[in-house]
Amino acid sequence: MSVRPSTDTVRRAARKPFGLADVAVKKANGEPIVMVTAYDFPSAQIAEEAGVDIVLVGDSGAMTVLGYPSTVPATVDEMLMLCSAVRRGLTTPLLVGDLPFGSYEVSDEQAIRTAQRFIKEAGCDGVKLERGGTSVQRAKAIIDAGIPVMGHIGLTPQTATALGGYKSQGRDASRALELIKDAEGLAGAGCFSIVFEAIPSRLSEVIMERVDVPVIGIGAGPSTDGQVLVFHDLLGIYAGHAAKFVKQYAQIRNAMIDGVAAYTDEVRAGQYPQPEHEYTMRAEEVTKLRELLG
Ligand code: KIV
Repeated sequence: MSVRPSTDTVRRAARKPFGLADVAVKKANGEPIVMVTAYDFPSAQIAEEAGVDIVLVGDSGAMTVLGYPSTVPATVDEMLMLCSAVRRGLTTPLLVGDLPFGSYEVSDEQAIRTAQRFIKEAGCDGVKLERGGTSVQRAKAIIDAGIPVMGHIGLTPQTATALGGYKSQGRDASRALELIKDAEGLAGAGCFSIVFEAIPSRLSEVIMERVDVPVIGIGAGPSTDGQVLVFHDLLGIYAGHAAKFVKQYAQIRNAMIDGVAAYTDEVRAGQYPQPEHEYTMRAEEVTKLRELLG
């Protein structure tokens, strides 16, 4: 495997670590906050070099890299392995780890213990959890234990079944009101940021007037303080269904298939490896070896 230097080392060298306080500073200055997901060492390095502010090891990794049909089966140990790999690839962005389904809902104690593992074992700077309701209390407990928490409302994939599927949320006034209460609850609990997923842009605007916590949107319109996309969606690596809010900035999957197919063809045709890929051995060493072998 060859190791190539960064294509944008100047941009990278000039950056200072993006801390928790910078999230609020960006909001105050009206500068958009850029978040992207990552799940392994190379995707973390790419996020680093591209200059994003926050990297989320989302439980979307259950689908994009672990091949589960939903985010629900992801375990804490699986998420910790992904977070640790991402940690090793990052220097500047803030690193947030997603608490998987079933790892924080039972009690405040369970939530704190799980969150602590993300900080101690995987080197995350903070954690994210989904929903309002009882999650507001869990968020508060984790924050009281000294761990920064990012909330997540709207379409919350961990409980998509209860929401009637992977559908946009808050399009009628009564559900919109619930989401406003959830956002206010998470802001009141002390979350440093909240993700709004798949809600109408007009509802985002209404909530934004009522909470002063930095909001990062995904399918929540342009009024939020920042945007997040799933790495595999924005680069066109994941072959599954893409939500309405996904914009594909590259089509890496086809390039990857083409590359592996070309390798397959060359091996089968005896065209790879070529002399430039071989290690040499001096003729006298070959002779000596043959003598040793008798
Ligand atoms: O798991 C994830 O990737 C997420 C983002 C879509 C916010 O929760």
